[in-house]
Amino acid sequence: MIKSLRGMNDILSEDYKRFTYFINTASDVAQKYGFHFIQTPLLEETALFKRSVGASSDIVGKEMYQFIDKGENDVSLRPEGTAGVVRAFIQKKLDKAGGIHRFFYHGSMFRYERPQKGRLRQFHQFGVESFGVESIYEDANMIMMVCDILLACGIGYRLQLNSLGDAKCMPAYHDNLVKYVTKFKDEVCKDCIRRLDTNPIRVLDCKNKICQRIYKDAPKLINNLCQSCEDDFSKLKNILDSNNIDYEIDTNLVRGLDYYSKTAFEFVSDNIGSQSAIAGGGRYDKLVEFLDGRPTPAVGFAMGIERLMELIVMPESPKNGYYIGAMDENAVDLIVQLSHKKRKTHKVSIDYKAKNFKNHIKAAEKVNAKYFIIIGSNEIQSATMVIRNLKDNTEKTVTLKEF
Ligand code: HAM
Repeated sequence: MIKSLRGMNDILSEDYKRFTYFINTASDVAQKYGFHFIQTPLLEETALFKRSVGASSDIVGKEMYQFIDKGENDVSLRPEGTAGVVRAFIQKKLDKAGGIHRFFYHGSMFRYERPQKGRLRQFHQFGVESFGVESIYEDANMIMMVCDILLACGIGYRLQLNSLGDAKCMPAYHDNLVKYVTKFKDEVCKDCIRRLDTNPIRVLDCKNKICQRIYKDAPKLINNLCQSCEDDFSKLKNILDSNNIDYEIDTNLVRGLDYYSKTAFEFVSDNIGSQSAIAGGGRYDKLVEFLDGRPTPAVGFAMGIERLMELIVMPESPKNGYYIGAMDENAVDLIVQLSHKKRKTHKVSIDYKAKNFKNHIKAAEKVNAKYFIIIGSNEIQSATMVIRNLKDNTEKTVTLKEF
């Protein structure tokens, strides 16, 4: 038997209800914040991810579904959504047009990671990207949007916050950090030695216990910000305070993608095991320019839909539509005609198989129908039917024509 690939799941039935409920709820919130839908391809040139997410990141270095296509192009399945949206933004010349452009998207992402609970190789994100707003209020807006989506889905969270500085304060901080780590070069892991050459701040994110102990006393990003980054970070905290949004400062939060500067944030849940990040994002003011666009400030986030699915509190769905069942074989033609007409305005479930009353009622309950009708020889002869309201258990007789 052929099975799905490891870390790639089918989504159906109850899961699919949760999945679509989440996408509808999140899309609704995003539209209230003035964001518009964007869809970009699943497959892009590998160079796009190398240049944006960063060739030294684990995502690009180890986890991409990368291959040479039939036209000899080096292509990859997208591991995240930001790079494609930025590419589209530049390709459509929106950077040159100027102004503010706000997008939301959802879809499959692919990372060749070791599958475990909450970590898949094909997973789904809901994300947003905002272009053209430098103000720190936009960073707060992003965080408030995630809070609103989680609140609408009944999901509790902790928010972790950091500032990664900018081109003014980062270089000096990098030097300090490299000096500090070099003192321990015989003790830290091989990956951290490599990170010193590629992207030093990623050492702070290392999961190795010895490294973690050493980095406890490393210089902190947050204590080395320039005045403008410091002012923005204080302002962001004030905005969150005045909107009653709780947060923790995590000075080691560096995120797994290289394009961030200034604000970085992650939402975590304590109820889903070790893969606890349910959303992550931040500011990436240099990325548009880096991908050959006109310099444009930008900020965004993405949420992992599979990790949120088990946390969503679904509203009770009200009984809805009709169930029409046949009592005997010669009624089947008629119920097909009736349902075909009624479906112009209502949801209708039908059962082609003749069954007894009890089995039809069971089937109607399963599809959560509000109205229940069964048709047999009596109904055909009298050209009438009884419509039972399964919500309040009342009945009404109507002619077939009226129906
Ligand atoms: P990210 O933190 O890599 O950020 O991913 C965002 C979310 O996707 C994570 O918080 C997690 O919930 C989910 N996720 C990531 N990897 C997996 C996986 N293997 N299995 C299941 N869920 C996963 C980004 O992707 C950025 N593009 C976010 C962003 C948008 N930053 C600015 N704009």
